[in-house]
Amino acid sequence: MKVLVIGSGGREHAMAWKIAQSSKIQCVYVAPGNGGTAMDGRLQNVPITDLNELLNWAKSEGIGLTVVGPEGPLAQGVVDLFRSQGLRIVGPTQAAAQLESSKAFSKAFMKRHNIPTADFETFDDAALAHAYIDAKGAPIVIKADGLAAGKGVVVATDLDQAHQAVDWMLEKDSTLVSHNALGARVVIESFLEGQEASFMVLCNGSSACPLATSQDHKRLLDGDVGPNTGGMGAYSPAPVVTPSVHAKVMREIIRPTLEGMIAEGMPFTGFLYAGLMISPTGEVRTLEFNTRLGDPETQPIMMRLKTDLLDVLWVASEPAHNHRSQALEDLELEWDRRLSLGVVMASHGYPEEVRKGDVIAPLPKDQDDRVIFHAGTQLKDQNLVTNGGRVLCVTALADTIQQAQQKVYGLVEEGVHFEGMQFRRDIGWRAKR
Ligand code: AMP
Ligand code: GLY
Repeated sequence: MKVLVIGSGGREHAMAWKIAQSSKIQCVYVAPGNGGTAMDGRLQNVPITDLNELLNWAKSEGIGLTVVGPEGPLAQGVVDLFRSQGLRIVGPTQAAAQLESSKAFSKAFMKRHNIPTADFETFDDAALAHAYIDAKGAPIVIKADGLAAGKGVVVATDLDQAHQAVDWMLEKDSTLVSHNALGARVVIESFLEGQEASFMVLCNGSSACPLATSQDHKRLLDGDVGPNTGGMGAYSPAPVVTPSVHAKVMREIIRPTLEGMIAEGMPFTGFLYAGLMISPTGEVRTLEFNTRLGDPETQPIMMRLKTDLLDVLWVASEPAHNHRSQALEDLELEWDRRLSLGVVMASHGYPEEVRKGDVIAPLPKDQDDRVIFHAGTQLKDQNLVTNGGRVLCVTALADTIQQAQQKVYGLVEEGVHFEGMQFRRDIGWRAKR
């Protein structure tokens, strides 16, 4: 079979890398892909980003299955488009993708279906939002309604920060936030304390197959300080998700979400990612939904997955009229018993002013337990150069966090280098005992 992966990040490289291991694969195409997917002999980049063009290409190439990586094409309706032409695709429809593309939708949905989340209000009027902030006090969390490339959440530790966030998020012609149909809106919610975890499931409307758990590191610097980023490293599994937390998440968050989406006429298909906040007493709340896999969480998760990913995606892409099927609930994924840890190498200036074009020194070869996934890289005249904020994710499997760290950081020392490279040296610290 020929499979198409849409996207160009580390998540897409990891998915394509895993799908390509299936014995049923003829070729895995990545659109548009990156330098790493260009260099991998089993993968082929397709330089198309326009969705209609991609559809035509997929039809003419005889693509049997498409998987969507990032939120952008989902919010633009790529799943509806491909399905309308009878193509199999894994992802949510445009309507279902609102769980991520509109914070206001997703918070109101959680409220309607009693899914535990932080208390909140939604505003389009700046004066009312400012008054609400003054009444509630800091810390407080301000979220832009629309997609904002990972910048749309401000955890304000003082009132000034909170007021400023409201001002730029409600700006009518903002270049930072893409406003939804109802115009500029913000969600203001209470600050939650605890430990975060990423909980991802693959859904076909009525049933969900959980993936291994993971934990991301969103801040730029060691010790979880500095600006928020898309994620500087992740590991799997996350010990904070104990068996009892796991059961609670399936019962109180995942199943009610699937039922609620069916009740509202938009069954959820594809990957659903609940960003969790787990309180010290084991109370679980949903910080956010993403309607795709996490990046960089996917990189360590794919390294642990032993089941043929293509088989799983095939079941998940059954046409929607089958959405009552229990097929996914019955699937048992097999995971490597070792843990996996991935550390992101970011470019100079990330996350603010990203510099591109730095030459990446020839990288060490991948081994069974060590893989370097590419994200913001590009092949230019046979040279690999940086081409985005998060450049590489150096990932390793090992029996303990300490050993995984030694493998990853050892590999980095040995030969992962480009000018201005930034990375955290403490990924996995919460899992150390
Ligand atoms: P989100 O995109 O909603 O996950 O927010 C990005 C990050 O902001 C999360 O990973 C948390 O670290 C933080 N965050 C979001 N909402 C809250 C909240 N209510 N309380 C504390 N931190 C939050
Ligand atoms: N790593 C967080 C995310 O993918 O949203």
